[in-house]
Amino acid sequence: MKLVSIVGARPQFIKCAPVSRELRKEHEEILVHTGQHYDHGMSEVFFEELAIPKPDYNLGIGSGTHGRQTGAMLGAIEDVLVTEEPDVVLVYGDTNSTLAGALAAAKLHVPVAHIEAGLRSFDRRMPEEVNRVLTDHASDILFCPTETAVKNLAAEGITEGVHLVGDVMCDAMNYNRAVAEERSRILEDVGVRPGGYLAVTVHRPSNTDSRENITAILGALGDAGEPVVFPVHPRTRHYLGEYGLLERMPENVRVIEPLGYLDMLRLMAHAKKILTDSGGVQKEAYMLGVPCITLRENTEWVETVEAGWNVLVGAGQEKIEDAIHSFSPASRQQNLFGDGDACIRIEEILTGLQGAPPG
Ligand code: UD1
Ligand code: UDP
Repeated sequence: MKLVSIVGARPQFIKCAPVSRELRKEHEEILVHTGQHYDHGMSEVFFEELAIPKPDYNLGIGSGTHGRQTGAMLGAIEDVLVTEEPDVVLVYGDTNSTLAGALAAAKLHVPVAHIEAGLRSFDRRMPEEVNRVLTDHASDILFCPTETAVKNLAAEGITEGVHLVGDVMCDAMNYNRAVAEERSRILEDVGVRPGGYLAVTVHRPSNTDSRENITAILGALGDAGEPVVFPVHPRTRHYLGEYGLLERMPENVRVIEPLGYLDMLRLMAHAKKILTDSGGVQKEAYMLGVPCITLRENTEWVETVEAGWNVLVGAGQEKIEDAIHSFSPASRQQNLFGDGDACIRIEEILTGLQGAPPG
């Protein structure tokens, strides 16, 4: 089988690493990087650390408004698909690269397989929610990480071609956890000790593009009473600069460049708590057994909240401070995201569909 896999943003590199490794045992994979993320620390570092094959195509699309970025990707991906004539196009998650890939393929009648299908925050103001819904409705094969995702699809009338396979981020973590412990020196580099700091990521437009919200978040971090390690996404750095907040960073908050995956894993694993608005980081916190404080009003990873390991606090300073000081999960974790064999299942399902009509 010939597959074209489409990636473009940081979390997609991490997700595609284990899938690509599995698929290439039996199939031909053409890897397309849209160029949505392009800084070394947002892109190349993941290819190097995770031994992801060099992309066959880098479309070099870069940043832009949603319409311009997605539109430029759509045209460029179409050209690749016309040249390569794949049997299946594989897309990941919920970024503009995901939607462009799904749409380009669907219009050319190439079957689309969506990894991380069925996730919903039910918040259409998030660009990701629009991307998720549209991608799922353009997909023929839907690989769901959780039961909730399967139910969400059923509620929208999508029941054909749906497969519950577990979460490929669990596979990625299992593969890299010990390596991260061995190779990463991030705790030593930033000068924190295990269990003695908070790890933070913020990059959602609802937080970064609002002076009020990001100021409240930094206010709460400043009152945490312990060191805070904050690898800053370029979007966030841009707004922190614009609001003049970089120079007024609380003393206990260590602002650092975005981390590679191995450093990020080790930083999260030893944190006392994690504060984030990232989708992937909420799951990783759960898998690592670290309490997670989510700086959003909603989440698509509802299982982590129901299990008592994640609390949604939005961007109100008082609520964040309360959670920093008092949030404490009562229950033990369960295996919410599978056994780390999602990639094997995905490969088996795709192989089984070979020659059969999709769905
Ligand atoms: C994107 C995804 C989001 C995902 C996130 C992962 C969409 C709509 N959003 O958000 O779902 O959670 O990636 O990190 O697809 N920039 C750089 N260097 C880079 C990349 C970005 O400086 O390598 C800056 C640019 O100013 C750019 C801004 O960050 O305008 C935002 O980048 P973009 O890819 O549009 O969205 P993200 O916020 O990264
Ligand atoms: N991540 C990383 N370095 C960082 C911040 C995040 O390697 O500095 C990893 C994180 O561990 C997770 C993924 O990137 O695996 C999540 O990506 P992000 O938060 O950018 O996007 P989201 O998951 O919200 O779409």
